[in-house]
Amino acid sequence: MMSEPTETQVASSAPRTFPTGFVWGTATAAYQIEGAAREGGRGPSIWDTFSHTPGRTQDGDTGDAACDHYHRWAEDVEHLTRLGVGAYRLSLSWPRVQPGGRGPLNPEGVTFYRRLLDSLREHGIRPYVTLYHWDLPQELEDAGGWANRETALAFAEYARHMARELGERVEVWTTLNEPFCSSYLGYASEVHAPGRTEPAAALAAVHHLNLAHGLAIRAIREEIPGARTSVTLNLHLIHPADPASPADADAVRQIDALANRAFTGPMLDGAYPDDLLADTAQVSDWSFVREGDLEVIRQPLDVLGVNYYFTTLVRKLVGGGTPERADGHKTAGASPWVGVTDVEFLPQPGPHTEMGWNIEPAGMTRLLVDLHRRYPGLPLAVTENGAAFADEPVVDAAGRRRVHDERRVRYLRDHVDAVGAAVDAGADVRAYFAWSLMDNFEWAYGYSKRFGLIRVEYPTGERTWKDSAYWYARLASTGTLPAIADAEPLDT
Ligand code: FCB
Repeated sequence: MMSEPTETQVASSAPRTFPTGFVWGTATAAYQIEGAAREGGRGPSIWDTFSHTPGRTQDGDTGDAACDHYHRWAEDVEHLTRLGVGAYRLSLSWPRVQPGGRGPLNPEGVTFYRRLLDSLREHGIRPYVTLYHWDLPQELEDAGGWANRETALAFAEYARHMARELGERVEVWTTLNEPFCSSYLGYASEVHAPGRTEPAAALAAVHHLNLAHGLAIRAIREEIPGARTSVTLNLHLIHPADPASPADADAVRQIDALANRAFTGPMLDGAYPDDLLADTAQVSDWSFVREGDLEVIRQPLDVLGVNYYFTTLVRKLVGGGTPERADGHKTAGASPWVGVTDVEFLPQPGPHTEMGWNIEPAGMTRLLVDLHRRYPGLPLAVTENGAAFADEPVVDAAGRRRVHDERRVRYLRDHVDAVGAAVDAGADVRAYFAWSLMDNFEWAYGYSKRFGLIRVEYPTGERTWKDSAYWYARLASTGTLPAIADAEPLDT
């Protein structure tokens, strides 16, 4: 079924091998897979409200049922075990364990995660736990959401509770997933929950998410002194349209400030970049940053999580007009680029995935190598990487249900290879997590985009291994990059 090995494979003498101890995993997020939205004492989150609002998600899809992981978790642990991964990155649903975002915990929700984590441990799979993958309890949004400083304080209390309740079961505690999306896409561009279009609130959200991160790490360390802590950022690799143009270089600087340094600045360098404050001065005076905040936000981290999917190409817009916005984010709404009016996001050459995202593995190498140079003592983990492609199931000659997703196998092979190149160049990358273990609720795109190694049938929830799952199982068991053709069931 698979096509011939590519030139690079033929040319390279030996298959790429990763260092011993390199961690292979898969990733998911609570709202995208759990379902059981109104079961087990779970409270509503902003994504319940958003997805139930007409017009917000494709086909009106919601996470009400999702992959039914809440009921099928034991089966999903079996899949992880068969995949042979050493780690699994999951997120906790805050409204499941603390329905109002403050106050009493929901014992049923806590028990759900305890059992899941215990089962992962029993199967030799280390849980990387994200505390916030976008499902803010609705009650906190009603009180202002991330634009309100109180949300950061509530998050720290939630983190403390989880550290007490789950303790040593967790291998790595990750505070936030992609605060870029939580702030700009949720509060400026309306394509994510809570769907607000308030640029000033988006900047306040940036700061309160940063503050939440710092406060949570402190709380976790107070409860578990040896805890390993982390945050996951979707750092943008930004190209100028014309590498020789000073104007385009300035466009890169502007977008880098908003997308990347708004988070790495306070978290890793201890300050907001001056150019970010200057660029956004028309929108906000940043007076929500209080004395002592920056000290709280800059916490030592054990690992920095990086999510990487595509790259960004920008050009300075000269002479006015409406800038093109092929920025990879849903463009139905207002711009997420707070304070930026003169930067164009240009479409990029193919190939592209089903999301319209350009495929550029070399960007992964560069991002990791650049990060390592800038923060040499900080270990890195690729906490998400993967591709959406629509591949339909077929029945093979042996009567088995299969999904031949060669494009995903290629995407993964090329990106894992790119991670290997970064390791060769000296970057301290410790782990790689494929997004995603299974097809799931892709936010505003609903169920229309499939990222899984495992196919999920909706609404039955039936799971089918795609060829990429067979391929990934080989990678996880050998630590050596398999050939494209090594994507067949092991018994054939
Ligand atoms: C990332 C999200 C993840 C998933 C992938 C495709 O931005 O963290 O939940 O939706 O994109």
